[in-house]
Amino acid sequence: MAHHAKKFNLIVAACENGGIGNKGGLPWTLKGEMKQFARLTTESEQPNKKNAVIMGRKTWFSIPEKNRPLKNRINVVVTNSLTDLAPLAYQASSMEDALSLLCTAPLVDEVDIVWIIGGQSLYQHAFESAHLHRVYLTKVHGNFECDAFFPLEQLSKMEQVVDSRLPQDVQSENGIEYQYQVFQTKTW
Ligand SMILES: NC(=O)c1ccc[n+]([C@@H]2O[C@H](COP(=O)([O-])OP(=O)(O)OC[C@H]3O[C@@H](n4cnc5c(N)ncnc54)[C@H](OP(=O)(O)O)[C@@H]3O)[C@@H](O)[C@H]2O)c1
Repeated sequence: MAHHAKKFNLIVAACENGGIGNKGGLPWTLKGEMKQFARLTTESEQPNKKNAVIMGRKTWFSIPEKNRPLKNRINVVVTNSLTDLAPLAYQASSMEDALSLLCTAPLVDEVDIVWIIGGQSLYQHAFESAHLHRVYLTKVHGNFECDAFFPLEQLSKMEQVVDSRLPQDVQSENGIEYQYQVFQTKTW
């Protein structure tokens, strides 16, 4: 009965209006931020296990082909239009199916932390789940032209926490300022 029993985290970079993407790519280039994304999603707590990343089909194709699948992580793509991503990634027809897949043999014994990495509809869906644990937000200052969005208003229901792996001060790259914030579901 391990189905859906796993907690998951969500990671996103959003600008002030909640924008996360434009025309199939990111609205900004932030190399240091991308490094933190890779580090956080890759670093497992249990050394003999790997983390998993769950993403929508458009997010999968937004990753340059040479970087797919995201290395040292189990990649799961949510899609109902693709049929063959093996052996690069697992496929699931919904976020629930993706979580179930990771909570069932054989993957359940190989997977440590599960990360939802976008896009828009998976993010919206994540807040409807009782298993959402933490949101790792990179708050990009200013606004950019975007056609995909993150529901920032959901964060007001969570409490802000500190992850000591992340710098607390405002970062700056290419004239763009941003900061890392971590939110956790309130426990009753
Ligand atoms: N800033 C960030 O942190 C961040 C993170 C991720 C992505 N992005 C950006 O966001 C954009 C891509 O995101 P997006 O929202 O447009 O697309 P997306 O969520 O990555 O992909 C959408 C597709 O995924 C499948 N899908 C998603 N949710 C589903 C569900 N609940 N049930 C079944 N299928 C589902 C469907 O695939 P099928 O049509 O194949 O069935 C759908 O067409 C890009 O611009 C990307 O660069 C930004």
